[in-house]
Amino acid sequence: MSSAHPQCAAEIVDLRSDTVTLPTDAMFEAMRSAPLGDDSRDGDPTVRALEQKAADLAGKTAALFVPSGTMGNLLAMLAHGGRGGEVFSDAGAHLFNSEIGSVVTVAGLVPRPIPSHRGAMQEEPLAQAISATASAGRPRPALIWMETTHNGAGGAVLPLAHMARVHALGRSNGIAVHVDGARLFNAAVALGGSAQQIAAHADSLMFCVSKGLSAPIGSLLVGDAALIAQARAFRRFIGGNMRQAGVIAAAGLVALNSMIARLRDDHEAAQRLARGLAWLDPALAEPGHVQTNILRIDTSGSAQSAAEWASRLKAHDILVQASGASQLRLVTHRHIDRAAVERTLAAFAAVAPKA
Ligand SMILES: Cc1ncc(COP(=O)(O)O)c(C=O)c1O
Repeated sequence: MSSAHPQCAAEIVDLRSDTVTLPTDAMFEAMRSAPLGDDSRDGDPTVRALEQKAADLAGKTAALFVPSGTMGNLLAMLAHGGRGGEVFSDAGAHLFNSEIGSVVTVAGLVPRPIPSHRGAMQEEPLAQAISATASAGRPRPALIWMETTHNGAGGAVLPLAHMARVHALGRSNGIAVHVDGARLFNAAVALGGSAQQIAAHADSLMFCVSKGLSAPIGSLLVGDAALIAQARAFRRFIGGNMRQAGVIAAAGLVALNSMIARLRDDHEAAQRLARGLAWLDPALAEPGHVQTNILRIDTSGSAQSAAEWASRLKAHDILVQASGASQLRLVTHRHIDRAAVERTLAAFAAVAPKA
């Protein structure tokens, strides 16, 4: 764990999420020396610099700094409007499963899950759902929602051609498209392309600097100036206004300036883990499905529940997340080096039920 911050318990291999990454020394330094101001009064210069950088990277005209990805997604829904209408996404979307129902209770949208494959909505059922919704007696279509990389689908990356077709479908029906790009740069690195190429197929997009990019806090919502002005007003409305937020934006700037290219190391570590686990038991992992830094491990073929696997791995100082009865989620990040991968594989071998 050579890259771990000194405060990180060195003996623990924490694969529960890439959100456990600690700020780098460069981030701490930038936070200490950042020019600051009252962001909701005269503006905080470091926040403004981060928002400009985010907009530039995504090829959009404006950006808004928010404390979390969940808030960025919520503000997108509020800013696009369409209260009472339907939001189309795949059933496994983070929005539908892990954002505490804000889609319904705060944004006032009706979830319309669309059959999907590895996080990508099937286009024909999507088109049919939009025309059905547009008919009398159903809520009107409000928003199309894509997620890349896709958390529930094991870090799957949406193909750009698929995103382009979904965006075109939205445009031809007058429906805005939002992309939950919490791990946007993992998707860009995996595609060998740029964030801009992905964001080109979105009217708004949220990405996080607090995950694999190692900043302690923060996400950005990008879009055109009018949409972001709306989102800025809604941020105040839900109590998300911040003051000298440059302290945290400074770390976000370091993340965007210097932490993107190294994400490929995390993808390589995930591949090594997937190959090692598949060697141990081909039912556990499918290396061909691991495109980025998330592995979904299928434990259904074993007599142990996912929770039992997690607790037995924990006894070996390996932390993983049990997700449902028969799935483990492992996420690689900056603190998972080669030695950590080897220790994880050894622990899996030790706890795997013997045939
Ligand atoms: C795909 C996706 N969207 C949104 C979020 C929410 O981000 P946050 O935890 O910063 O609210 C997450 C968090 O893991 C995520 O994986």
